[in-house]
This record gives sequence, C-alpha cells and structure tokens, in this order.
Amino acid sequence: MEPHATTLRAVHLLVMALTVIASDDFDWTKTDKGAFYFGTFPAGFSWGAGSSAYQTEGAWDKDGKGMSIWDAFAHKRGKIFFNDTGDSSCEGYYKVKDDIALMKDMKLNHYRFSISWPRILPNGVRSHHINEKGIQYYDDLINELLENRITPIVTLYHWDLPQVLEEKYGGWQNVSMVSYFNDFANLCFERFGNRVKYWITFNNPWSAAVEGYETGEHAPGLKLRGSGAYKAAHHMIKAHAKVWHTYDTQWRNKQKGLIGISLLADWGEPVDITNQKDIEAAERYVQFSLGWFATPLFNGDYPQVMKDYIGRKSAQQGMGASRLPTFTPQEKSYIRGTCDFLGVGHFTTRYVTQKNFPSNRGSSYFTDRDLAELVDPRWPDPGSEWLYSVPWGFRRLLNFVKSQYGNPMIYVTENGVSEKTTCTELCDDWRMQYFREYINEMLKAIKDGVDVKGYTAWSLLDKFEWDEGFSERFGLYYVDFRSKDKPRYPKASVDYYKRIISSNGFPNQREVENWKRRATETCSSSNQLLAADPLTSHMEMVTEIVVPTVCTLCILLSAIFLMFLLRGRL
Ligand code: NOJ
Repeated sequence: MEPHATTLRAVHLLVMALTVIASDDFDWTKTDKGAFYFGTFPAGFSWGAGSSAYQTEGAWDKDGKGMSIWDAFAHKRGKIFFNDTGDSSCEGYYKVKDDIALMKDMKLNHYRFSISWPRILPNGVRSHHINEKGIQYYDDLINELLENRITPIVTLYHWDLPQVLEEKYGGWQNVSMVSYFNDFANLCFERFGNRVKYWITFNNPWSAAVEGYETGEHAPGLKLRGSGAYKAAHHMIKAHAKVWHTYDTQWRNKQKGLIGISLLADWGEPVDITNQKDIEAAERYVQFSLGWFATPLFNGDYPQVMKDYIGRKSAQQGMGASRLPTFTPQEKSYIRGTCDFLGVGHFTTRYVTQKNFPSNRGSSYFTDRDLAELVDPRWPDPGSEWLYSVPWGFRRLLNFVKSQYGNPMIYVTENGVSEKTTCTELCDDWRMQYFREYINEMLKAIKDGVDVKGYTAWSLLDKFEWDEGFSERFGLYYVDFRSKDKPRYPKASVDYYKRIISSNGFPNQREVENWKRRATETCSSSNQLLAADPLTSHMEMVTEIVVPTVCTLCILLSAIFLMFLLRGRL
C-alpha cells in the first residue's frame, strides 16, 4: 500500500473504532488529552463530599444498633488488613456537629452519607422492631446539615446488610431481600423524606455483588464463583426498582424528591484503537460493570453482550440455562425508567484487550468477560493498588453515559484518591493534582453536553477502607485513629478544594496557578503539629514510666545505703 493509503486506512479504522465506543456527537481525537481547560461550572453546580455509615460511624453496637454483615465479617480474623474493624472508626456517630462544622468551613453544598439499615432496624425487619435511637441519630444529622444549608444526599444501602438477614436467608442470594429492603426504604421515606430530597438506593452494587458473593473479599465473604454475583445483582436491581416505585407512587407527590442509584465504573480504553477485538473488549469491560446495572434501569434488560457471553459459556459448561438470570417481560417494563438521576462513582481507568478464557476451566464473572486489563506503568498510583490516576478516562466515561442512556441527569457520587502512607502526610500534593485534573475533565465533559449536576469528593474523612482496613486513606481530612478522640486535621487538598468550590471551577490561569502553593503553605504548619505527635507520646513515656521508675530506684538505693550506714555504726 502507498504511504498515504496506509494513513487513510489507519484514519478510517480510527474513526470506525471511535464510533463504536464513543457517542455520535463527541470525537475525542479532536481534543488534546493533556490540555487544561480554564472555565467555570454552570451556576448552581453542587459541590460536596461523601462518606458511608460503616466506614465512619463507629458505635457498632451502641444505642440498640443491630449487627451488620460488615460487623460480623470484620470480627473474623484474617479478613481485613491488620484485623482492623469499623467498631469505632472515626467515631462519626458522636461527632455530627464537629464534622458538619468542617463541611461548613469548606462551603460544601451537599453531603453524601448512608443510613445503616441495622442501626434503625436491628433485625432487618420493620415489623420486628424500630430502633428510635438510630432514627434520632439520622434526624439530628439531617437537621444539622439543613441548618447549615448543606443538602443531604442519602444512600440507603452502602453494603451493611443486617446480619440476621444474611444468616436467615442468605442475604442477597435470596429474593426476599427485595421486600425487606423496600420496607426499610419506605420507613426512611416516612421518617426523613420531608427533609431529604435526594435518595440513592444502592451504592456500587457491583462491589457488593462481586466482592461479597463471588470473590469473598468483602462481607459476607461468599465465594459462589460464576453465579453468586449475578444472582445478588439480579435481586439488587429488582429491589432498586421496587423502592423507586414505592417512592414514585407513595411519596413523590408530597415530598418532591429524586431517587437514583450510584454505580461505580472504571473507564475501559482499547489497548489498540485500530483493533476491532480490543475495541469490543473495552466496551465489554464497561458493559460488564456499569452496563450490568444501568442498562436494565434505563432500557429494561441486561446488556446484550452480557447475555451473549454468559449464555454461551453456560451452554458450553453443560448448563440448561444461563448463569445470568433473566427478567420476565413484566419485570422488564417495571424496571425500565427507574432512575431519576444516575450517581456515578469513578476513580480509575484500564487498558483492555481481548483474551479468551476456555469455558472448561470453571466459571467466574471475570473469565466470562474474555478480556485482560492492563495499566500504563507511567500512570501515577499514589495509593490503593488498583487506583491509577488517568483523568482523561473520566471524560470518556461521562460521555459514554450520555450516549448510552439518553443523556441522564448525573451526580458524581464518588471521586478521589488514597494514600498508602501510614505516617502522617498532610501535604497531599498528589491528591490536589488528582482533583485538579479529574474535576477539569468533568468540566470538559459538561462542555461536551453531559448533564452533570454535582460532584462529590471521596471522602470527607480518612476512614475504614473495607478489606484494606485503615491502611488506605481517602480523606480530605486526616484522622488520627491512634487517638481515642479521633481528631481530624485538614490536608492541603481541603484548601485546594475550597478554592475550586469558591471559584466554581478554574476561572483563569493567573488565579489557579497559585492555588497549590498556597494550599501547601497551610499544610506545612499543621504537618508540624502532627509531627509533634510522636514527641508527645515520648514525653508521656518520660513522665509516666521513666520518672516514677527512677524515683523508686532512688528511694530503694537510699534505703539500702542507709541500712549499710546504720549497720556500720552498730
Ligand atoms: C467505592 C466504595 O463505594 C467506597 O466505599 C470506597 O471507599 C471507595 N470505593 C474507595 O475504594
């Protein structure tokens, strides 16, 4: 082929590739991945931070709270890094006013938190017993937020199923969870819905299903490979739809709120954008995570590619039916259209390539996808092992949501980065960089026409990071877990995020270029404060152990000396 014919062919392939994975009206070949975009967000854009009950509340057995699957799981040895538990965590249960003061200082517009199901229904079942003290806690939290003009965005399920329901029925493996969850949600609408206008049914059901019932890394720790996750997800989707209908028919008129779901998704980029197999593998990667839940909610059924792949593999494995459950026609129309807004949680990106997994080597969600995930070694990975900073993936994901699901209203419900350091590091340069770039990509996505209404930095505080215990810190605020009172200290990113909020974006280069330096000035002094911490405990050791021991020894020696002296005289 002549050189220019080769180029033409490459361009043709590229265009084809992009039309498969991208929206019709968005062509990112025209945009420079690295270029920073100066500009501001639409008026009324909502800035927030988030948390979840088990990760921050502590007070795991206080005031009548029942046990959740996470209490039970974390109490088993060997499940969590260092055998940490969320028993006391940030003691958020006792620090409502303090934490809201932090939010107020940052001028947050919203705070995303979750309600612990067993804190208000200790046995999971509404008819059994309502724990009024638990209700009181969330009442106080909501009221305090509203008094400070912070909008509550409330998640009903952030993974802490009542343990009783797991023990009695097998948790999300059992379809009876649909009505138990609906009763719980209905109670929340009844008690809090006069003040809460944004509800999220499930947080990241992908993780709850895959890590809870497929790999067993998360509670309840079951390893039902190849079927457990699909079954759990099936019931969660049904439960979501039921709760949406309950809100829609019983409460919406009176309460005028919105109800959605929060889905976590990585972006999947084809390794070779001219290779059709890679392009399809990358799309499959996203369909098997985001699409698994979003497609039923927006279109009424699982993504075709999931039905095809899991169906084919199940048949090859000699099964009479697909391991992916099916929805009846009635269920499909009941589930379709049950999302007033889509919550998007996003942290990272993967390169994806086609890889065949023979079906005779056992079944699993991961091998069903026939793909391999890769990362670019140059991508920064300051914290969690899985979390590489790839800002441009965020814009692509948001555009994918727009094109796939008819430009829904989006709230970014989680975005942030962790640090591995167990020692204190308040000058979190890499986090400021992460926020700067990811938020900028979100701004570009809005300019592309994606309907993003709000952004939630994950997370307000360092907290219990599931199976990683306290070893990974996502917080804007550092929490000193060694100290009984769990004091909070602002990291530099607090100051940085505050500047983004008060400017509603990145107004111009002159202003934005100083933000990091200024934020770092504020953190160096607080860093010294914390650095003094080991010294404080050293001083404590001196006064509490060394001084008394030396004194006792002195007294003893003087007594012995005196005895000798007296003997000599006699
Ligand atoms: C998503 C989960 O919803 C959240 O609880 C967790 O802290 C983040 N991922 C970071 O791993």
